[in-house]
Amino acid sequence: GWRTPHLYLYQNFWCQPKEIQAIIATQQHFQATDTDIILATIPKSGTTWLTALAFAIVNRKRFTVPEKHPLLTSNPHDLVPFLEYKLYANNQLPHLSGLPSPRIFATHVPFASMPESMKMSNCRIVYLCRNPFDTFISSWHFLLNVRPENLGPFSIEEGFDMFCRGLVGFGPFWEHMLGYWEESCQSPHKVLFLKYEDMKEDIIFHLKRLAKFLGFPFTLEEERVGVVEEISRLCSFEILKELEVNKTGKSIANFENKSLFRKGGVGDWVNHLSPLMVEQLSQVWKKS
Ligand code: PPS
Repeated sequence: GWRTPHLYLYQNFWCQPKEIQAIIATQQHFQATDTDIILATIPKSGTTWLTALAFAIVNRKRFTVPEKHPLLTSNPHDLVPFLEYKLYANNQLPHLSGLPSPRIFATHVPFASMPESMKMSNCRIVYLCRNPFDTFISSWHFLLNVRPENLGPFSIEEGFDMFCRGLVGFGPFWEHMLGYWEESCQSPHKVLFLKYEDMKEDIIFHLKRLAKFLGFPFTLEEERVGVVEEISRLCSFEILKELEVNKTGKSIANFENKSLFRKGGVGDWVNHLSPLMVEQLSQVWKKS
């Protein structure tokens, strides 16, 4: 029998039937506006981090009492809703026109399958990419955590083989990344392409870059008094992981917030992948 969730190919990417339904609804009904911000990722590449950062940047004038910041009591996914997991999930058609501007949404959908209005409007899109080795390790751990027990064991070899064949949610990984990469080259004012590893190395630099791209650049005065550092700290893995809401809460159906915070580092794949596996993935990488 099936030991992994059923994946279907829809518009050249793999996903589950429930997701397809929500994605079609999003494609048909979502109307992007010029001020919208769309955060795009393939699962497990830093979505939670990016949503926290974008939310904190854009709303920093609204929450001047640091101890009362919504990020301290809500999971980032509650503040920046997913189009396909929240807003358009379960046959809902949400009313989004009343949301405060700029609206921020998250999605895993590849660029080619984004709603027309996202491509046609002047909304801004940020793509966060993580190296495929760590992305795979992160999703494998996540899957182990959330999969129903009656499905039995799921070996790393099996998961890895699927990943290499492109068989992961919203994959293949390479097509996903390249779609956004190409768009960011053609329209750099519209799509910002960020890398998880770069952000880990120099979050202050990339936070400023992100704020500028989103149309909310930090003033010299803000930089002087440490607003950038404050936001980077507030959104850090270490802080978010320890919050009560992220230890016990639930933001998206089917999994708990705590499964979104594992190690939050770079290079954990060396502890899990054999040299043969690394070679296999490198070959796939080269071919793409
Ligand atoms: S999801 O389900 O797609 O939204 O998951 P996503 O957030 O994309 O990926 C989860 C991994 O991101 C790590 N993480 C973080 N890294 C840095 N900073 C912050 N604030 C942060 N929050 C979550 C999380 O630990 C997962 O990576 P791994 O390698 O499994 O630890």
